[in-house]
Amino acid sequence: MSNRTPRLTGLVRVIPDAEDLYDELGAVLVAAAQKAVRDRGVFHLALSGGSTPEPFYMRLVTEPAFRPLPWADTHLWLVDERRVPLDDERSNYLMIRQALADHVPTPEDQKHPVPVEEEDPAAAYEHTLRQAMGKMDDQVPRLDFVLLGMGDDGHTASLFPHSKALRENDRLIALNDGRCVTPPPRVTMTYTLLNAARHLAVLVTGAKKAQTVRRIEAQLRNGPDPVELPITGIDPIDGTLTWYLDAAAAGL
Ligand code: 6PG
Repeated sequence: MSNRTPRLTGLVRVIPDAEDLYDELGAVLVAAAQKAVRDRGVFHLALSGGSTPEPFYMRLVTEPAFRPLPWADTHLWLVDERRVPLDDERSNYLMIRQALADHVPTPEDQKHPVPVEEEDPAAAYEHTLRQAMGKMDDQVPRLDFVLLGMGDDGHTASLFPHSKALRENDRLIALNDGRCVTPPPRVTMTYTLLNAARHLAVLVTGAKKAQTVRRIEAQLRNGPDPVELPITGIDPIDGTLTWYLDAAAAGL
């Protein structure tokens, strides 16, 4: 336990109650979405799986304050996916579909599950992303808003400690598997794509994560170490990074 907000890269918001935390994150998301649509006519949103964001996704579709979200002008992307069929209970898209995507008026061709059954789902997803974002050359497209989570081992997206996708600098999407990856094999956005985003938000709740948050804080005093703690490699080039922690995750 500590009595102060953890110092992490970017802005850290600690909001004791998870529901209030979702409300603040949701309000920031609404503002970013509306600005994106005003400025560029479209909102590119990338969502994480795992268990943490599920209640937030459900709140986004039920809470009246979030009705202004411009779902019809939104493209929904997956930060990462497990290489299992899309109806497998481990599929991130299954959770996102059931909690959110099935309940919003986003056109079907703007919902982008990872094509896990393809021989090279990473290359295929990168192609779809570049096509939708109009960046078919080598330029890195800028996602408008990316929601990340954090694992107990300090992974984010499917960038696991010591895994090969950490070293992927040329591609926007990578396959990640092998000894250092929690099965099943994964498809993940790379640092190259994530750090180019306009807004990155990391949502972490629950006492189980508090020790990792403090470990990250200690590491960051000496600088990032993405190999041991991949989330320390999240550092936007020209965007914002905000952590959303409840009191338990902040160790307060
Ligand atoms: C995944 C995620 C991953 C997740 C963390 C935290 O597919 O597993 O996208 O990066 O955010 O593992 O998971 P929990 O929210 O379940 O703790």
